[in-house]
Amino acid sequence: MIETQKNIVDKFGRVHDYLRISLTERCNLRCFYCMPEEGIKLRDKAEFMSAEETLAIAQTFVAMGVKKIRLTGGEPLIKKNAEYLIRELGKLPVELAITTNAVIIDRFIDVMKEAGIKAINVSLDSLVEDRFNKISRRNYFVEIMKNIDLLLQNDFTVKINVVVIRGVNDDEIIDFIEWTRNTAVHVRFIEFMPFDGNNWNWEKKVSYEEILTTTNNHYGKSQLYKIEDQPNDTSRNFRLLEAKGTFGIISSVTNPFCESCNRIRLTADGKIKNCLFSQSETDLLTAYRNNLELEPIIRESISTKEKERGGNEKFSDEMAETLKNRSMTTIGG
Ligand code: GTP
Ligand code: 5AD
Ligand code: SF4
Repeated sequence: MIETQKNIVDKFGRVHDYLRISLTERCNLRCFYCMPEEGIKLRDKAEFMSAEETLAIAQTFVAMGVKKIRLTGGEPLIKKNAEYLIRELGKLPVELAITTNAVIIDRFIDVMKEAGIKAINVSLDSLVEDRFNKISRRNYFVEIMKNIDLLLQNDFTVKINVVVIRGVNDDEIIDFIEWTRNTAVHVRFIEFMPFDGNNWNWEKKVSYEEILTTTNNHYGKSQLYKIEDQPNDTSRNFRLLEAKGTFGIISSVTNPFCESCNRIRLTADGKIKNCLFSQSETDLLTAYRNNLELEPIIRESISTKEKERGGNEKFSDEMAETLKNRSMTTIGG
């Protein structure tokens, strides 16, 4: 009984125990599908959570039953006090995780171990240097690949996020799966989703079905094993016969997993987004600065969460054009 009262539960009975905190909107890459070409508007530092505010707000969520915190960005590791934040958040009774582009992660190996981080999700959309550098509009491919090796040598679990976009990297599905044969990486192919400024349309996304057809045609069904998905997993997961790694598909567009959603997002400017696609946001940072009690505000925000995709039943070209949201870099995935 006490447990139920303590947890953050929405009107569909979903328990929200996973908080994604975006540490910064800024990034050292410029992936074209995430960051609008013109970049994002620079804003006054005071509009964003300080390290102490981030910690205090995170503590409130933990007291309300949050069990997992993922740090996101932009790129979380370029936040000035990222090391301090990782160390301090590591002291909370939560599973701490991070989604990063891995460009500078070699500087954080020790602090991540100290904070008890075990799993790291790395965004990497191509295994071809020139192509990756074109997608990310920067030249860090070599550093990233070195850093992925370094993470594996240091026994971190590494998931690789590949946003599959037609005509951009959809010819690399088999190459990514081949990588899992001898390397213990967990590759996840992600259906491309619409956000502000990313010129999404239905044709550009490559669906779960298509990815599975490509793999079945290449390997034959007997080479591929369905592996058990963890509760609240975003991906459906598979393994190639005798491979060290695995691969999975995140089908947010064609088959969303909202019924098992346990996620709350806190943006770098201290707003709660109760869904990746929520139209409205709740200003927690201002409430904190005004010494208001945060718990009822958090509960109210989650109680208005829509059943699916912020109330957008289906993605379509028309919907993408009128969708009111942020750019991905200001949400954090
Ligand atoms: P794990 O905690 O390891 O399961 O990672 P994750 O999949 O929750 O997080 P990550 O930051 O690696 O995100 C991978 C992809 O899944 C990104 O494209 C995210 O936008 C997408 N994703 C993560 N959470 C959600 C969600 O709640 N809803 C939807 N629709 N997509 C999500
Ligand atoms: N669609 C799907 N996934 C996206 N990501 C960024 N933009 C998109 C998009 N438009 C993914 C990145 C990153 C994660 C947080 O979100 O791959 O790893
Ligand atoms: Fe949860 Fe919204 Fe993602 Fe669905 S789209 S899984 S409701 S965050």
